[in-house]
Amino acid sequence: MFAVQFDRFGPPGVLTFGPFPEPHAGPGQVRIRVEATGVSPVDTALRAGRSQSRPPLPHVPGVDAAGTVDEVGPGVTGVSVGDEVFGAVDLSRLGGANAEFAVLRFWAGKPRALSWPEAGGAATSVETATRALDVLDVRPGMVVLVDSAAGGVGSTAVQLARARGARVIGAARPDHADFVTSLGAEFVPYGPGLPERVAMADRALHIGGSLAELVALTGDPAAVVTVTDLGGADRGVHVTLGALAGQPSGEHGLTAAAALAEEGRFRLPVAEAVPMPEAAKAHSLVEQGGLRGKVVLVR
Ligand SMILES: NC(=O)c1ccc[n+]([C@@H]2O[C@H](COP(=O)([O-])OP(=O)(O)OC[C@H]3O[C@@H](n4cnc5c(N)ncnc54)[C@H](OP(=O)(O)O)[C@@H]3O)[C@@H](O)[C@H]2O)c1
Repeated sequence: MFAVQFDRFGPPGVLTFGPFPEPHAGPGQVRIRVEATGVSPVDTALRAGRSQSRPPLPHVPGVDAAGTVDEVGPGVTGVSVGDEVFGAVDLSRLGGANAEFAVLRFWAGKPRALSWPEAGGAATSVETATRALDVLDVRPGMVVLVDSAAGGVGSTAVQLARARGARVIGAARPDHADFVTSLGAEFVPYGPGLPERVAMADRALHIGGSLAELVALTGDPAAVVTVTDLGGADRGVHVTLGALAGQPSGEHGLTAAAALAEEGRFRLPVAEAVPMPEAAKAHSLVEQGGLRGKVVLVR
């Protein structure tokens, strides 16, 4: 098969698109013929050698993908060859999705309402946002602040919190105000001084920005969860790291998001869909930032 890959750590230019041994579905896994596959900050950090984890080289990046099942591993039920699914690889393997064929560790049926690029970039944002909102125990009528609201995890969290009946305040760069509002949030500019611009919040999801300010805003570290600041635990904030740290990743989140998509209540914003051979361009876009949603590679 052909796959995006790199055989040394470095800038986006180390990425190539060429032959790579095909993976096969092991126990509890399915293999898909990939239609679209996401590019995430974890992929760019690995490629650059900025991550604490260093995969063996050559390495195929990518954790999210959508496509058609062509192998079903031992012990797997409820899915058949030919089914259209979206999901994520075994995250402990640090990649493998940006390829013609990918082996998924968790998945759900692709909703008709999502395009291939939307489905291909969705899984870890949905899983992470679901996990964080579960930790925060978000309920109808609560005011939930999402800092920041325009990226993959943030834009997903805004919609899923709205679907739980919360009033959502989304912090992002000023030129993303319309975008954040279109997701169902009230917009506030991100950056220092956030507590002075927001009257109150019952809960806060920290993705970017100042964790200390979110604790000040809610008045309770237990009302804040972070997906990025490992030091948060020292302040009493719940740090949720997901499957990379060995915690279970739920398929329930993907199934629920797929149902919401069919009802028109969830979409995965795609900032740009880039052909797979141009993966270096996709990594550069993610590293530049300022995006509305996910960058996705397409077949
Ligand atoms: N713990 C977990 O399980 C888990 C899972 C998935 C992802 N993550 C992590 O979560 C983070 C977000 O992932 P993603 O896929 O959503 O990335 P993304 O799409 O690149 O979004 C990152 C967002 O952070 C915003 N940001 C940058 N500086 C900020 C600041 N000072 N204040 C507030 N927001 C700021 C960016 O805004 P601008 O670019 O517009 O400035 C961007 O919208 C990454 O660090 C990723 O590694 C953790």
